[in-house]
Amino acid sequence: MNNAVFVIAAYLLGSISFGILVSKAFGLPDPRTVGSGNPGATNVLRSGKKLAALLTLLGDAAKGWLPVWLAQYYALPADVVCWIALAVFLGHLYPVFYRFKGGKGVATALGVLLAFSPLLAGLALLSWVAVFALTRFSSLAALTAAALAPGFAWLLLTQVGYIIVVFVLSLLLIWRHRSNIRKLLDGTESGFSKKP
Ligand code: G3P
Repeated sequence: MNNAVFVIAAYLLGSISFGILVSKAFGLPDPRTVGSGNPGATNVLRSGKKLAALLTLLGDAAKGWLPVWLAQYYALPADVVCWIALAVFLGHLYPVFYRFKGGKGVATALGVLLAFSPLLAGLALLSWVAVFALTRFSSLAALTAAALAPGFAWLLLTQVGYIIVVFVLSLLLIWRHRSNIRKLLDGTESGFSKKP
């Protein structure tokens, strides 16, 4: 089969928003209409339903992981794997099913990193957890992990194409967080307070 079909399939898979679907299944408001308006796990968590947020995180991460893992499993050429990784991520950011208005890509990027290298994903996740534990800002945690990920990729990955993909994913992710960056700078970002 023509490799373009796999790239298009990855984009369509990425266009499925677990934040929207899971919220609907749980009878929660559409995450695009509440909180930050982002259809991601963080904003679903603001509804108070931890399970819904967890399922959103797992669904969005799994859709990033699956096509890249399959492409590697079936030994597709490295450049095709790279296009598939970019396509699934772009599907999440600019979903064809939701008028091209998607999420910020944190969970989906994590899934792609996991398919590239579990150690790489582990280090990115660890950076996220450390910054979140210290600051309670999901966005700052994601921005830090995104800033560090290309460095981790440079150290751990051997495929230059994969390193470039991680770099591009990080840049796009940071770009998608520009409203969060503005809010972090002016002190209006919404964080998660520790339980008393
Ligand atoms: O996963 C997205 C997160 O980094 C920020 O989400 O809802 O606070 O804009 P949000």
